[in-house]
Amino acid sequence: MSCKRIEERPGLPELVLEHGSARVRLSLQGAHITQFSIEGEELLWVSQCARFEKGAGIRGGIPLCWPWFGASLDANDWPQHGFARTSDFQLLSQTSDAHHTGVTLTLTGPVPVPSWEGIASLEVDIRLSDHLWMEARTRNCSDRDLLIGAGLHTYFAVSDSRQVSLPALTGLAYLDKTESFQRKIQAEPLSIEGEVDRVYQDPPSQVELLQTKAEHRIAVDAWGNTDLVVWNPGPTVAAAMADFDNEGYRRMVCVEPAIALDHRVRLAPGESVAIGQTLRRL
Ligand code: BG6
Repeated sequence: MSCKRIEERPGLPELVLEHGSARVRLSLQGAHITQFSIEGEELLWVSQCARFEKGAGIRGGIPLCWPWFGASLDANDWPQHGFARTSDFQLLSQTSDAHHTGVTLTLTGPVPVPSWEGIASLEVDIRLSDHLWMEARTRNCSDRDLLIGAGLHTYFAVSDSRQVSLPALTGLAYLDKTESFQRKIQAEPLSIEGEVDRVYQDPPSQVELLQTKAEHRIAVDAWGNTDLVVWNPGPTVAAAMADFDNEGYRRMVCVEPAIALDHRVRLAPGESVAIGQTLRRL
């Protein structure tokens, strides 16, 4: 059991948590988990072309989207998925006992979007045991209401995205971002072919990600989310993204508990909201 700071990526301090055979690596920029492995098996995908640079989002792992998810509803020129993922966090505390190793991080960087008028605290708890548990908590520290969105933008590593299934989503309504947010029903089991970008509304709290050929199942238990986003860019969109490696879209599927679009939570002064998930290999 340990938590240590490493400096392999200049300008991007990182922490490594170890507990038994489980390992988490995370960047203090964005409180961004870039590795979660169990017995040497990587559960998260990180692009071979990911940029590990100050101020750049990291393609893969678990970017934390905050204080909005996706495009901002308030201004066209605000960055997609908010600014937390490119902001600095500080280590607030760490714990380690027989059951888990954990850290709490807090957002400290200056708000890089001056026209965003929120005053809020954001704390992220990460606990590692035989599974990963994480929660992001926002508190409105201002004297007026604050609208908060968020997302745990989890890139799962898969052997072939075409063989992935998410049975819990069958029958749910979703908004199809590839077709101007048209509302549709997931009548057939979801299959990842080409670009998939869907916001499932009112999702179940537990979703299993199955890979048909490999003996490989991951359970995602989420709370505090109003939506579950499934994203795979497919070959064309991926090829246009400089930080997506060739064939990367075959090796990943994003399953993202989120408070998306107009589901943003209105926090009165002093109120808090939390969004979290556990990831467990079955
Ligand atoms: C997903 C969105 O959550 O993130 C997609 O639904 C988006 O629309 C994807 O393309 C990646 O976003 P970004 O900002 O990391 O390139």
